[in-house]
Amino acid sequence: MQLNHVISTKQFLSPSFLAQLFKLADKNEEDDRNNTLKRVLNGKIMAAVFYEPSTRTRFSFESAMKKLGGDVITTESAGHFSSAIKGESLSDSIRIISGYADVIVLRHPRRGSAKLASQVSSVPVINAGDGTGEHPTQALLDIYTIEKELGRLDNISVAMVGDLLNGRTIHSLLILLSLYENIRFYFVAPSQLALPDEYQQYLKKKRIEFMEVQDIHEVLDKVDVLYMTRVQKERFKSDYDYQQLKNAYILDTSTLKRLKNTAIIMHPLPRVSEISLEVDMDKRAAYFRQAKNGLYIRMALLQMILANE
Ligand code: CP
Repeated sequence: MQLNHVISTKQFLSPSFLAQLFKLADKNEEDDRNNTLKRVLNGKIMAAVFYEPSTRTRFSFESAMKKLGGDVITTESAGHFSSAIKGESLSDSIRIISGYADVIVLRHPRRGSAKLASQVSSVPVINAGDGTGEHPTQALLDIYTIEKELGRLDNISVAMVGDLLNGRTIHSLLILLSLYENIRFYFVAPSQLALPDEYQQYLKKKRIEFMEVQDIHEVLDKVDVLYMTRVQKERFKSDYDYQQLKNAYILDTSTLKRLKNTAIIMHPLPRVSEISLEVDMDKRAAYFRQAKNGLYIRMALLQMILANE
């Protein structure tokens, strides 16, 4: 299947497409393990244009491209290390970069920036996070992880915990999970960081069951997936407000006693204090496996966008 721009998970509402993506990711993992990856992206160039910091998304995209034989041009802190510092608009920068690359991976602090970029780019644009909007490739690796870990995507209860207001991974993931049968959500957040109304309306329209709660202990024994998120300091206008909320939820081994044995703990990472280090030793802690899965999903996406051109 050929892909073009990747802007929102709303464009992936097809279980058969997702199954195909997962199959390709599985194959990439196996070939990587056996050292038999083919250089199917030889001659292609990916531009990684990051206006916000990143460890996982940028490095996994760059690694994915290189493992498949492609090349990378890249800038981090693009607001400082590109001509943005001289006043160049995002639209002009993207128009120019699209003349130098076959695909652009863009992270930008402004919601809607990836869509705007896709409208002026002559090559496919992949949204690697647009402010508080979406992070579709994270959501794709998240559901890939859930299927790998639990063996199913239907009939699951998911708690999303933390900064549901600003967490773009949450916004993208709930849209994708809504595709499956008998999904139930628990949104665990202080009222100041509650899930925005537009996503609640989306779920209501799809008749997906959800409940908002503030106490994480109310849901621990009910869920199959405990999806923790960081309180996003960079989105707060006041440091005082951030300090009040930053430790709203802390998962430690005593909290974990109530979590089902078969449940998994996920986190898009980076974590700050919301998961204690001692939790890493628990077999239910899936967040490092989740981050590794990002490499294989991003390889699959790049293949779908570039390999058949
Ligand atoms: N999950 C995620 O987007 O991580 P980075 O900010 O490190 O890319």
